[in-house]
Amino acid sequence: MSKLIRLTIQRQDARESHPYAQTFEIEHKPQMNVISCLQDIAARPVTVAGEQTTPVAWDCNCLEEVCGACTMVINGRVRQACTALVDNLLKEQATIDLKPMSKFPVVRDLFVDRSRMFAALKKVRAWIDVDTYGYLGEGPKVEPSVADRRYELSCCMTCGCCMDVCPQVNDGSDFIGPQAIGQAALFNMHPTGAMSADQRLEALMGPGGITDCGNAQNCVKACPKEVPLTWAIGKTGRDTTVHAIRRWFVK
Ligand code: SF4
Ligand code: SF4
Ligand code: FES
Repeated sequence: MSKLIRLTIQRQDARESHPYAQTFEIEHKPQMNVISCLQDIAARPVTVAGEQTTPVAWDCNCLEEVCGACTMVINGRVRQACTALVDNLLKEQATIDLKPMSKFPVVRDLFVDRSRMFAALKKVRAWIDVDTYGYLGEGPKVEPSVADRRYELSCCMTCGCCMDVCPQVNDGSDFIGPQAIGQAALFNMHPTGAMSADQRLEALMGPGGITDCGNAQNCVKACPKEVPLTWAIGKTGRDTTVHAIRRWFVK
């Protein structure tokens, strides 16, 4: 006889509506992840109570932990649905529990609006300015230790795990969050990006900037890509202090 898996999912019909829970049972198959569970529920959206309902909404794209779109709270821990394997989740608890991330507006069910993170990337100019699409020749040489650190920082996929666990990211604060600070450090460490470093530091010195970080270090523990967030926060904090002193002298 086939084994059944039980999932309790927090649903929400629209941005402003109240959340409610629904429980589903689906057939266990080898190598299932949370996305395949949601696909099976979508194929037959009927709760354990026999109530016909709507398919659960969720976001996903790459299905290989690269885009960050499928991030949700699974068994109480924020992570990616595409790499959350059912057999491992069932070792944690008997019923798999799915909720949307808590620090982002819910669009519907498990689908959240992560645009505050993309706005933060714009605020810190998380890009390298170029004035042509043509070939610019070889890039400048970078010390291997700098290249290694930049590689680690570049692994950020804007998933939101670090934001969701940060106590300073909440309804009453406009803290930019650890992810944008990490990306400011990444681009300030690039030889060409360093030319706009002052603008990134200025953006992080205003309200909601780096001084709002309470140094709880939840972010670095939650990051699935092991982005060195607390290192970036420390470095960027020192850089903003030096920038503030320099600005004071050249006034
Ligand atoms: S160190 Fe703490 S307060 Fe600062 S960004 Fe990380 S989780 Fe938030
Ligand atoms: S720093 Fe890590 S946890 Fe934060 S958005 Fe990037 S990948 Fe996700
Ligand atoms: S679908 Fe891209 S990280 Fe899961």
